Amino acid sequence: MTAPALSIEGLSVDYRAIAGPWVNVVSRVSLTIGPGEILGLAGESGCGKSTIASVVLGERPAGRRVREGRVRVAGTDILQLAPRDLQPLRGRRLALVPQNPSQSLSPGMRIGRQVAEVLEAHGAARGAEAERRAAGLLAEVGLPDPERLARRLPHQLSGGQQQRVVLAMALACRPALVVLDEPTTGLDVTTQARILELLADLRARHAVAMLYISHDLAALAQVCDRIAVMYAGEIAETAPAADLFARPRHPYTRGLIASVPRLDRPPDPAAALRGVLRREVLPTGCRFAPRCPAAEPVCATEPQRLDAAAPGHAVACRRWRALEPAA
Ligand SMILES: Nc1ncnc2c1ncn2[C@@H]1O[C@H](COP(=O)(O)OP(=O)(O)O)[C@@H](O)[C@H]1O
Ligand code: SF4
Ligand SMILES: [Mg+2]
Repeated sequence: MTAPALSIEGLSVDYRAIAGPWVNVVSRVSLTIGPGEILGLAGESGCGKSTIASVVLGERPAGRRVREGRVRVAGTDILQLAPRDLQPLRGRRLALVPQNPSQSLSPGMRIGRQVAEVLEAHGAARGAEAERRAAGLLAEVGLPDPERLARRLPHQLSGGQQQRVVLAMALACRPALVVLDEPTTGLDVTTQARILELLADLRARHAVAMLYISHDLAALAQVCDRIAVMYAGEIAETAPAADLFARPRHPYTRGLIASVPRLDRPPDPAAALRGVLRREVLPTGCRFAPRCPAAEPVCATEPQRLDAAAPGHAVACRRWRALEPAA
């Protein structure tokens, strides 16, 4: 049996400021991505999405600790790996597409050379052969006239073109997992739509597994097989993408979906999200209770765990059955 592209089991992560106390930001998160599968990770800013991405990529900054849990990429235990073994893994088995493409591109180096260097660094090709394959990769991510574009410098490209180059670099060695952290957030709406089309197209052609992080549920729905919704560091609900939209079961998911503007129906004010996430005042029970339109007094003191509501569909809300719309 092939190992999952990503397996996260019971991951809890804390941060602390210098000499301050540890503050928990990710709590008992479990996620699995099968080979070739795209999992969307949704939730408002500050809920812990980028922290999970960073842990998966093997980053270990000062002031952060993994309190518990296991993280495996294609069977390799990321948390147990020595730093010198992490470097060869990145780029070859595991790649990142960050929000800002300039984070991944060297300003003074021609585009074609940058893509070629990824191939060379991992022993996939050398010299002229690497440059030739680089042009092929640029064509694959929908960049026109790749030979000419390969001779340009990053600043001569638009933001959308730069993000395509970063995608080409991420895909260069056919990694087991690509992590995309808000890859379209800095782009205008039309360019965003094109990048989403490209991702859908790449997944159809290459079956590359992706962890696609976004606060934009509508964007996730276009490319993901499954979606996990996070609230304040915990998974609130996880389901196949179509199922999540057709039958959202957690009041927070309903709120997120109600906040997506749609032409085919009026907004639902009862489901709309109220207020903002305030980490200083999280209850000991359901963390969403202060903002939940369906909360009962006991919700704030009773911790919630994921409950299977349907095949592949789990929800962490004690009231999910009572809240089901009448058939
Ligand atoms: N280096 C850090 N030190 C302290 N707190 C951090 C650090 N990075 C992130 N946080 C906190 O962790 C929480 C989750 O952040 P993050 O993972 O970036 O969320 P998201 O990507 O969903 O917006 C936030 O409350 C944020 O303020
Ligand atoms: S457990 Fe209670 S507060 Fe939490 S989402 Fe469900 S109904 Fe709302
Ligand atoms: Mg983030």
